[in-house]
Amino acid sequence: MNVSIMGYKDQIDLSKLPRHIAIIMDGNGRWAKDKGKLRVFGHHSGVVSVRDIVEASVELGIEYLTLYTFSAENWNRPKLEIMAIMELLVSTIDKEINTFMKNNVRLNAIGDLEMLPEKCRVELTNAIKKTSVNTGLVLTLALSYSSRREILRAVRSIAEQVKAGELRSEDINEEIFENNLFTKDMPNPELLIRTSGEYRISNYLLWQIAYAELYFTSKLWPDFRREDLFEAILDYQKRERRFGMTSEQLN
Ligand code: FPP
Repeated sequence: MNVSIMGYKDQIDLSKLPRHIAIIMDGNGRWAKDKGKLRVFGHHSGVVSVRDIVEASVELGIEYLTLYTFSAENWNRPKLEIMAIMELLVSTIDKEINTFMKNNVRLNAIGDLEMLPEKCRVELTNAIKKTSVNTGLVLTLALSYSSRREILRAVRSIAEQVKAGELRSEDINEEIFENNLFTKDMPNPELLIRTSGEYRISNYLLWQIAYAELYFTSKLWPDFRREDLFEAILDYQKRERRFGMTSEQLN
């Protein structure tokens, strides 16, 4: 087939998909501002992108998709905006739960979830429970999430285990450390995407992305759609992942 007329999706090698894709969804506010609208309008449009990316991930057979939905630092935003995002979260989960069941999507959440408003926590817990029977895509929402806090939490938990005599400090290794992170049941992301032209990690999955390929696009999140995801995956597949080795060793 002539490659030039193939869509990005057709060019993806399904045997070399990243198992875990993490996304920093950025640019909702700017997108709305560009249109002379309130920031909240950008978040609402951002949900349309979330839906499209989740669907595309299911279609491709991605195993884990982790979305930076609300950072611990986002609590410093105007109260009205925080409330709007929390409400959007509740209404989106409510609307999407049947589709999750139909598409075999298992919902998951990481972060300081106890900080979330009660209504949000209840909705999230119920949806996580209901979808726990599903075996397809694991969709993780990072909420009130801070990677540094997650790491400190793991350090504290390991220190407690040592203090209680359950673990010897000389036995602490990467596996034990990872087992104390929120992401303990997931593989590390192989691909991290950030939208909106910012080149930062913003306290997201710092330990987990040690070997991830980083992909930055200037598209604002509400404009990011499945074609953009496919393009990012293709770009990832063209890269050589060496894990510190030489090309010759890999070959
Ligand atoms: C970043 O854009 C976006 C957020 C902080 C919120 C992300 C939330 C959603 C996409 C909606 C809810 C999602 C789900 C899964 C229901 P920004 O506001 O930082 O944009 P800016 O950098 O242009 O100001």
